[in-house]
Amino acid sequence: MSGCGHDPAPPPAKDGKTRVAILISGAGSNMAALLEAAKAADYPAEIAVVISNNPEAAGLELARRAGIEALAIDHRPFGKVRHDHELALDAAMRLRGVEVVVLAGYMRILTAHLVRAWEGRMLNIHPSLLPNYPGLDTHARAIAAGDAEAGCTVHLVTEGVDEGPVLGQARVPIEPGDTAETLAARVRTAEHKLYPEALAAFIEQRKTAPV
Ligand code: GAR
Repeated sequence: MSGCGHDPAPPPAKDGKTRVAILISGAGSNMAALLEAAKAADYPAEIAVVISNNPEAAGLELARRAGIEALAIDHRPFGKVRHDHELALDAAMRLRGVEVVVLAGYMRILTAHLVRAWEGRMLNIHPSLLPNYPGLDTHARAIAAGDAEAGCTVHLVTEGVDEGPVLGQARVPIEPGDTAETLAARVRTAEHKLYPEALAAFIEQRKTAPV
């Protein structure tokens, strides 16, 4: 995995804040919640860069309007060579002194190369109460199963999809008449509170016991 794991001299972190990259593929509502939280002087993360594999992701424009550097690194020119796309992501993050990576609706499965390069320093949010419903269509599956509640999970990224150690969860009720869309909206509101809190707690814990 040449290229992964070599840190050029990174820009210094501001005020002891941890430099975070947010990876998105779409709307970026979780990204927006993280950017909002990071405005607070006492929030432990500084958002160094937002990167999308999808140049059309609405979140890129949102980030730019918030004054954050936002890059599109399109996966399509790399064809089936996922690893080469990830090397480009990895290089962009290291160049900016990124210490922690936050996946926020990043809809590409990562190869073991990138996961290992950022092991213990890469977080994801998933719209279910893991270990229930890894993968896609989580809300429709929870409704079809007759579950009384749903939720979201922030976890460390490991090589297994949606499998890493859980850092935090938030629960919401499934109401009679819920559709996948109405439930998704309720879960997303919970995500916007959970993710900034879980990231802050992770960073604070990491300062006392770095990986
Ligand atoms: C979020 O609900 C997030 O949990 C989900 O994508 C949505 C992104 O929304 N992520 C996954 O399904 C990853 N497996 P956003 O772009 O508005 O933050």
